[in-house]
Amino acid sequence: MSSRMRRVRCELDPARRCGRALAVAAFAVLAVVVILAAAAARPQTAPPSAPVAAHAEVDGLALIPPMGWYPWNTFGEEPQNEKLIREIVDALVASGMKDAGYAYVGPDEGICFSRGADGKLTTNLARYPSDLRGLGDDIHMKGLKYALYTDAGTKTCSGAMPGTKGYEFEDMRAFADWRADYIKIDWCNSDGQDIVATYSELGRAQRAAGRPVVHSLCSWGDGYPWQWAGAIGHMWRTTSDICGPGKADWARALRIAFANEKLHEFAGPGRWNDPDMMIVGMPGLDETQNRTLFSLWCHMAAPLMAGNDLRAMDKATIGVLTNLEAIAVDQDPLGVQGHTIWNDGNVSLWAGKPLFDGSQAMLVLYLGKYRAERRITWEELGLKADDGLYVRNLWTHETSGPHKGGFTVSVGPNDVAFLRVSKTNDFPIPPVLVADTYLVSLRSTGARPEILTGRVTVTNKGSSDLAPWRIDPKSLPPWLTVAVTGSGRTQTFVNTVSTKGLKKGSYHAIVRADNVEPVSGRPMSALYYDVDLEVVRDVRR
Ligand code: GLA
Repeated sequence: MSSRMRRVRCELDPARRCGRALAVAAFAVLAVVVILAAAAARPQTAPPSAPVAAHAEVDGLALIPPMGWYPWNTFGEEPQNEKLIREIVDALVASGMKDAGYAYVGPDEGICFSRGADGKLTTNLARYPSDLRGLGDDIHMKGLKYALYTDAGTKTCSGAMPGTKGYEFEDMRAFADWRADYIKIDWCNSDGQDIVATYSELGRAQRAAGRPVVHSLCSWGDGYPWQWAGAIGHMWRTTSDICGPGKADWARALRIAFANEKLHEFAGPGRWNDPDMMIVGMPGLDETQNRTLFSLWCHMAAPLMAGNDLRAMDKATIGVLTNLEAIAVDQDPLGVQGHTIWNDGNVSLWAGKPLFDGSQAMLVLYLGKYRAERRITWEELGLKADDGLYVRNLWTHETSGPHKGGFTVSVGPNDVAFLRVSKTNDFPIPPVLVADTYLVSLRSTGARPEILTGRVTVTNKGSSDLAPWRIDPKSLPPWLTVAVTGSGRTQTFVNTVSTKGLKKGSYHAIVRADNVEPVSGRPMSALYYDVDLEVVRDVRR
């Protein structure tokens, strides 16, 4: 597995490669399907071991599962370029996905960098004319986060890009210079490498580079990452790829869900089991299947990285991907991964997911041929039989109750009943944060001291007001102060720069803000943004 190789030609115009790519892809897909079907069937249950302390406790990142988009499931290695990523970014904003919390976006294999004679990674400017840094800046300016890709071995899986082996510190510095916020690190071409030592070194290299990043480990379950990766990064793939590029595979996605759910005890805030990017909205799945897979990913507190072509989504797919009531289960501040309670073949009950307000999520998955009814008792959910409970259907958005003893669901083939059960008929949504920008860029041209300001506004689309965000003033450089104004749903970070006494040059600060979710009292993921200051002339004192 670790020496998988595929072909990708970064230098060619994607349009010219299409015919050849299709032929190669057809063969590759066949081969991949055979290999992956075998791999997915591998037992994924790890020997028992206690979860490790999460690295996220230090950087505060990904205390809820990351949400975003990655190209691989639809586009494979080709064609990925700046134009595609920019179009996807626009579609992510226009479709309402940004407002639903999707933030991390960027190229996967098609990143196409190369290593220069000096050992440093360089952008392929034919593919990314704005430079990988310029693309990242534009993504940040749109209030989104930048996701990039590399490999822990000698080459990426395609064989076309250099891996980080032997260049861990240089490469993590390059990713920091490109202003990546999320790095997926694959495990191809890593023969003979010790997996824990390799990823640990990459974690040290990331910290040395000084930019906090969500570290997504991608060893497809090799090396049982759930046992150790939480101390290094924030999420790890638990299984092989969910599909070959461009080809959704319903049966395979279900096998992955059932493998992933068994690892539930290893997940928690800042450390997530990753059953792979979603195939929701890809050709080959109907609306019911999309809804079902999305519900399973949400119930498993899986990272929600969409993998479909966001430029060509129908309304139903947008409706699935932006259903805030389902997303609320995934993004719940307690960070508990739901799992199966029983599975009788056609019907399975998924529960074990307490939520921040004292309610809990449950899901009935039905894989039989004809619509069926099933009674779920409160005792099966660990609740008292005589509790009078309200039931919220997260897809029809209807509440019923109070029900005593249990609840009867009616589910069609391949569908789910995805429900939230509570003692009250109030079903709050935890914080969903949407920023207008993550990059403040200021410029001073005069020799006289100036005061410059730039703002970042963050809106909470959840249902509770947040306390003012906290920033440690000691973490800021002397030329920058930050005040937080506004309250409740919308708060603004006012960044004030004093240029007094600054020498000509470029200055950069990463601002970290922290908050606490008010209903559960749990720490929220830290919010980071960049402040750039360009000083054109030396400034007087
Ligand atoms: C591996 C990963 C995929 C994707 C490809 C890129 O197969 O599991 O998600 O990143 O590499 O080559």
